[in-house]
Amino acid sequence: MPNRKEKILVIGASGQIGVELTMALRKQYGNNNVVASDLREENPLLHGTGPYVSLDVMNKEMLHVQVIRQNITQIYLLAAILSATGEKNPNLAWHLNMQGLLNVLDIAREENLHKVYWPSSIAVFGPTSPKINCPQKTVIEPSTVYGISKYAGEFWCNYYHQRFGVDVRSIRYPGLISYKSAPGGGTTDYAVEIYSEALDNKKYNCFLKEDTYLPMMYMPDAIRATLELMNAPAKSISVRTSYNVAGMSFSPKEITNSIQQYIPDFTINYKPDSRQAIADSWPQSIDDSVANNDWGWKPEFDLAKMTKDMLDNLALKTEA
Ligand code: NAD
Ligand code: SER
Repeated sequence: MPNRKEKILVIGASGQIGVELTMALRKQYGNNNVVASDLREENPLLHGTGPYVSLDVMNKEMLHVQVIRQNITQIYLLAAILSATGEKNPNLAWHLNMQGLLNVLDIAREENLHKVYWPSSIAVFGPTSPKINCPQKTVIEPSTVYGISKYAGEFWCNYYHQRFGVDVRSIRYPGLISYKSAPGGGTTDYAVEIYSEALDNKKYNCFLKEDTYLPMMYMPDAIRATLELMNAPAKSISVRTSYNVAGMSFSPKEITNSIQQYIPDFTINYKPDSRQAIADSWPQSIDDSVANNDWGWKPEFDLAKMTKDMLDNLALKTEA
């Protein structure tokens, strides 16, 4: 049972993961014990559910003030620039993804925070990594600035743990699919857009080729993985860089077939753009046996189960 005296700061709470993770943390720790924060305005889904502060993770002084003022004991850092947006502005992506993390790790050390959560990504893997069941430890030569920043970040986390004892934990998320909050500029965003386009317009122009397999995960599994890792006893955490976790693996053609079970006249066109090269550099599936051994990770959703849930919930959203 988690300690109810914890006070949590979520940075990047208005984003795709932030909204759902904030709500899940509020359920676990109590609404007032989870402070949502972001550079942009509070996501409407969070309105009235708990405290919100406007915060720039790059402003270390202001971040430090908030941590002290709010008696924060744990930080979940979600602010980042993702793969596709990162390639448009590599300097900005490197700067935010690195400096934001270093600011948080420094404050965690200085204030003896109990725990820090920071997500990495399957984007750490590059063209020389194994494509199928990519292992926890393998050749890692990322080709995007996003992947480079995530891999460097993993080693900063490991360093702060080894050198200063900061209890920082991390997951290499696959592409995440959700219906509550929109995705923020990743290569896997097609697998989110395709569902709403199927419902609204019955057609979708896909920016990846039909046979591009990528590791993916439904948001409820990603939130559960995060909470399970953060609630695990420290002695069971053997990886202080970042854990591989797997959900499912599919191609645009397969997700189309899955949607057509419910919307038979749904059609898709393929117009690959610059995101194809990013997708081609990543593995098609992930081996998560280390996460399974250390803290019991097991996904619940496959493609068929996710498609039904996505379409049901998006249809309800449209009706509301
Ligand atoms: P997102 O883009 O949807 O959300 C990021 C949030 O951070 C946004 O609300 C943004 O306003 C905020 N932000 C940006 N700059 C900030 C700053 N300077 N100070 C404070 N807030 C700032 O991203 P997401 O998909 O929710 O991703 C969250 C984390 O998970 C990121 O580290 C990302 O790399 C990682 N991740 C995401 C996925 C995915 O598929 N969504 C996959 C792998 C890893
Ligand atoms: N979904 C993310 C992206 O495509 C993976 O980290 O950038």
